[in-house]
Amino acid sequence: MLRRLHTEQPASFAFTPANLRWAEAQIQKYPEGRQASAVIPLLWRAQEQEGWLSKPAIEEVARMLGLAYIRVLEVATFYFMFQLSPVGSVAHIQICGTTPCMLCGSEDLIEFCKTRISQEPHHPSADGKFSWEEVECLGACANAPMAQIGKDYYEDLTVESLGRILDELGAGRVPQPGSQIGRFASEPEGGPTALTQYAGEGREAHNASVELALAIGDTVKRIDGTEVPFRAPWLKTPQPEQPAPAGEVDTATPPDGETSEAPTDLDREHTARPPGVRQPLAGGETVAPAPVGHESGVTRHEAGSQAGGTVPAPDTAAPLVPEVAPPVLTAPRDGVGDNLQEIAGVGPKLEALLHDLGFWHFDQIAAWSPGEVAWVNSRLGAFRGRIEREHWIDQARKLAGQ
Ligand code: FES
Repeated sequence: MLRRLHTEQPASFAFTPANLRWAEAQIQKYPEGRQASAVIPLLWRAQEQEGWLSKPAIEEVARMLGLAYIRVLEVATFYFMFQLSPVGSVAHIQICGTTPCMLCGSEDLIEFCKTRISQEPHHPSADGKFSWEEVECLGACANAPMAQIGKDYYEDLTVESLGRILDELGAGRVPQPGSQIGRFASEPEGGPTALTQYAGEGREAHNASVELALAIGDTVKRIDGTEVPFRAPWLKTPQPEQPAPAGEVDTATPPDGETSEAPTDLDREHTARPPGVRQPLAGGETVAPAPVGHESGVTRHEAGSQAGGTVPAPDTAAPLVPEVAPPVLTAPRDGVGDNLQEIAGVGPKLEALLHDLGFWHFDQIAAWSPGEVAWVNSRLGAFRGRIEREHWIDQARKLAGQ
């Protein structure tokens, strides 16, 4: 497959302060002179932040690692885990099309994606929520056909079950990954024929992968500007302690000797389910989820009941900031308007987009409330989140002389 950079690129890229700290800590994992080894983690984090890898993001990673731009471009264009064009704001669907999955129906899934999402791969759907592509074997052939969505595998798919999964994601819920026909792992459909002593009563409700996915509950989360603490025990200078985001408490008990610092999603991947210790999610016990991922457009819910194949939404689920339509203009007040490109991070494309939305003056941007920011963000496509990260409102206030 020809993998090229997207024809339209943002003017700039910057890691959020939290992601920058994380990235700088990753670089220090490697011996002096070997910092290039951090290239994949840094590219991945940039993609987790933005949803895809832009040219400025690749250049920024090259700059941070002291590498020639072409060396990082080679990595970004080689692996199909890296998206080189904007993806759906909610989820990018990667359908495996290799032989076992093809024999079990992946071609039907691809046809479904063409109808439901867009005729062409890598083209977001009309509502901007989804995109898709065909990928090579993802190593779950025994449960073919399958797809990777965000960080999780959805297996034993049919057109109907894939449609239901998209419905759930589109509605802001997190569907249950794993086999969609109730298989625990990759045993025969009628149940295991060997090692039967490990099946049936007493077995956990889900295999470790599905259970962990339910515990973390962030299948399609984008790592946005939320300040999230992380552990970096390899650093010579310890990271300053940071408060845990409100409501983010993990029920997993940290191993002896570990700090009481609030765990991150990455920490959870290592501590939420120590080897051999399963947390039964049925019967009322839950693992508290991380805060809502605003940029994903998905409301996060607690992992709880296993019924219905979907993690249900409790009444207490934290709501997204509701969108509030801001006052807009059909033309600049003085016939000219301010030069919005004076706001760092706003280039010609973003300025044109802001004009289309009805914003021509610094004082308009300076007056945005959080709800109005949410409204604008949802209309910025691949640029969503830039308002907060680049402090447009503070900049606009200064430029407006406020
Ligand atoms: S062929 Fe699809 S996962 Fe291997």
